[in-house]
Amino acid sequence: MDRTLNRRTILRMSAAGAGLLVVGRSASLTLAAPPPLEKKDTYTVGFAQTGSNNPWRLGESKSMQDEAKKRGYTLIETNANEDTAKQIADVKSLIAQKVDILIFPPRESQALAPVVLEAKNAGIPVILIDRDVDHDIAKPGEDYVTFIGSDFVDQGRRAAEWLAKTMDGKAKIIQLEGTTGADPAIDRKKGFEDYLKGEFRGTPTPSGAFPEMEIIASQTGDFLRDTGRQVMQTLLQSHPDVTAVYAHNDEMAIGAIAALQEAGKKPGEDVIIVSIDGENAALDAIVEGTLGATVESSPFFGPIAFDTMEQYIDGDDIPDWVKVDDRFFDKSNAAEFQGKQF
Ligand code: AHR
Repeated sequence: MDRTLNRRTILRMSAAGAGLLVVGRSASLTLAAPPPLEKKDTYTVGFAQTGSNNPWRLGESKSMQDEAKKRGYTLIETNANEDTAKQIADVKSLIAQKVDILIFPPRESQALAPVVLEAKNAGIPVILIDRDVDHDIAKPGEDYVTFIGSDFVDQGRRAAEWLAKTMDGKAKIIQLEGTTGADPAIDRKKGFEDYLKGEFRGTPTPSGAFPEMEIIASQTGDFLRDTGRQVMQTLLQSHPDVTAVYAHNDEMAIGAIAALQEAGKKPGEDVIIVSIDGENAALDAIVEGTLGATVESSPFFGPIAFDTMEQYIDGDDIPDWVKVDDRFFDKSNAAEFQGKQF
């Protein structure tokens, strides 16, 4: 007997009046697709946000709120205050409230994967936005609908490419990493480091390796401005010879700029900085000359998340990864976008 049910079979069963099919992990049948979502007049969407302590998170929440309102959906938003255990509890609570669908960014990729499976077992489809979970634990197209987000590995590569070019292939780099265990932190580090090693996604890059682009220290700043500043202050004491900073987000880059200035260094001259996100404050810093460049990572997920949800309701095939394209901001175009981001 074929124990695997695919999405089309489930949709057919659902349409034939069999109702929502929920199969627990202990049951003998394995669902090879996320639970279906039937057409209704309106939906209650559970949105478990990771926190609200930076412009990126505020931009993402506003985008979700505005879009839900526009479409007449109820959005139940929780705030984990950047605490992974709290976000797990928030998702469990949204499952218990029987929301129609969960759309959220998992703070850490392994820690949040089990609640994605819990939602599936409770018959609630999940769309992950911005951050993904570990595919060894939960799989897109099977355990959850899809991941909508940027190519974080490529963001790291783009930052490295700009920095290597700007520094003529020679730098002593401090890397400020994002939240430990978060997939943008893992992937942005990989893309950056692999590019400098002369390879990208297992393939040698045409530009080759950059042996004199040396990462002299790498430490987490938890994607936070003040933590980035404090980490940079400490690292500057043991590495006063730093000539470049790669920060996994703009907030940490802005914190690093403050630390460098406090230490009497001139960011943009003595130390060249590249980061990721493209927030308004980063564009201002580029125009001022303290930040070199930033790779965009858009937080505006509302329209694409709800479009994808509606396509799923319609029974369309959804790719495992709905990729978001990112722009690049440096002194050639930052002024044009000042005040237009988040
Ligand atoms: O997951 C995206 C990252 O999370 C953004 O780069 C960062 O600013 C946010 O906290």
